[in-house]
Amino acid sequence: METLPSWFASMHLVIAALVLFVGYLLLRPNRWRGNPPPGPSGWPVVGSMFELGNRPEIFFTKTSERYGDVFRLNLGRKRVVVANSYETLAEAIVEKARVFADRPQLLSFKLQEGGDQTLGVQFTRASEMQRKKIKLVRAAFNPAIPDVAERFDAVLPIEVASLVQDVAREDGGPFDPHDVIEFCSAMSNVTGMLLYSKTLELGSCLLIDWLPWLSWFPSADVRELQALVRTMTGWHTDLIEEHRQTLNESSPRDFLDQLLIQQQTGKLMVSDADICRILDDLQSAGFNTATANILWGIQLLVQNPDVQKKLQAEIDEVVGSGRAPTTKDCRNMPYLEATLWEIQRVGMPVPVPGVRAALRDTTLSGYDVPKGTIMLVNQAKIATDLANFPQPHRFDPSRHLDENGSVVTPEKKLMLFGNGLRICAGRHLARDQMVIVMANLLQRFTFRLPDGATAFDNVGSTDGLVRFPLPYKIRAIPR
Ligand SMILES: *[C@@H]1O[C@H](CO)[C@@H](O)[C@H](O)[C@H]1NC(C)=O
Ligand SMILES: *[C@@H]1O[C@H](CO)[C@@H](O)[C@H](O)[C@H]1NC(C)=O
Ligand SMILES: *[C@@H]1O[C@H](CO)[C@@H](O)[C@H](O)[C@H]1NC(C)=O
Repeated sequence: METLPSWFASMHLVIAALVLFVGYLLLRPNRWRGNPPPGPSGWPVVGSMFELGNRPEIFFTKTSERYGDVFRLNLGRKRVVVANSYETLAEAIVEKARVFADRPQLLSFKLQEGGDQTLGVQFTRASEMQRKKIKLVRAAFNPAIPDVAERFDAVLPIEVASLVQDVAREDGGPFDPHDVIEFCSAMSNVTGMLLYSKTLELGSCLLIDWLPWLSWFPSADVRELQALVRTMTGWHTDLIEEHRQTLNESSPRDFLDQLLIQQQTGKLMVSDADICRILDDLQSAGFNTATANILWGIQLLVQNPDVQKKLQAEIDEVVGSGRAPTTKDCRNMPYLEATLWEIQRVGMPVPVPGVRAALRDTTLSGYDVPKGTIMLVNQAKIATDLANFPQPHRFDPSRHLDENGSVVTPEKKLMLFGNGLRICAGRHLARDQMVIVMANLLQRFTFRLPDGATAFDNVGSTDGLVRFPLPYKIRAIPR
């Protein structure tokens, strides 16, 4: 070093300082004005990004114990606010539904919509057009519409019977339902029938699952996602052409026909690219969550044999053993319905759901929240709130029943399907499917631990957005 002129060394220092300063200006987090929510300042540049890990709900719960029900975070340059109680969540997505109606501009969201967040319905930015599209989607998945219920009831029993057969093939021996229960493929088939009267031969399911906040960095996941989106676009482009060739405007066969009619009559200025994205979104939405729910369900029932016994008694009373339980039967099984709510609450497959963004400057719990702020929800904390769920870690379906044994849905304490303008359009059908699958399985089998096995853990693993139970072995004893 001593051979270098000292001006040269100080020049280096000046340049380094300049680079750091410019870097700071470019990468510094967006400032919060006014009265911001409290929260950790995190690291320079990345904020709290690396503290989230793949169990962000744990970091959120810890942080909320220090800062309260609403706190702020910086994730990279993104401003984030986290809602940790039912009240703050309801304020955001019910009371201020029109404000928190946007989706943030995230790389993963953009990729999922084929590079354009005005297309599709799922990760789409808020707009008039987006609202119109969502309205059509809701109608397509509303079981109160006879045509929808009819198609649903036509295809579901076939899919459920095939699931029951898969389990029967295990012949009472130990097996891991993760490997056998093709629930995802069954659901995807039902959705396919509703959308375009066809099942896609996928072999398995379209598992789109990632941590949205990690996808600000391009990675291998991104390439995988792009490839998947391309494959789906290919299928759906062919389907659109096929449907257009055979369309009869006075008798639409399915949701795709309805979209094409809207397009031809100019009622909805929807492009083919947009139709493609809508189909992709619907064909990939919610399957992971529903599959995780069924796997948690079986695990929790093995751990709670008394609940399982009660369910079987209800099924035997309402249906008997001579025929398979139907959607109609399930409306008369309050204990089964309550159990499904409890499975969703305790299994908690999506601990941090529904990433939203504020369309304009607003407030949350009295704090200023600037336009564009991302809102995340700590659903795991809300589902275990002592005030609403005494002994929260106990699996107890009867907490969702009133004194007369009727179901009291927990939606006033826990919004499992979101709410407001972004409420899950498939929620009724998703619940119906889960209830029917459980009823059919429990009518035929009793789930048990294999001899000598010890109980499994309830921590599970989250590789992406969805929390699955760890692999486990059980036996399905024919009844
Ligand atoms: C879904 O449909 C595909 C293709 O028609 C079929 O191969 C598969 O067995 C079906 N899945 C289930 C669970 O019925
Ligand atoms: C279209 O549907 C209507 C109503 O179901 C039917 O009367 C008509 O024959 C159909 N047209 C063609 C070309 O199939
Ligand atoms: C339970 O049933 C009784 C008698 O029909 C009725 O008076 C009461 O209001 C019911 N309770 C609830 C919570 O619905």
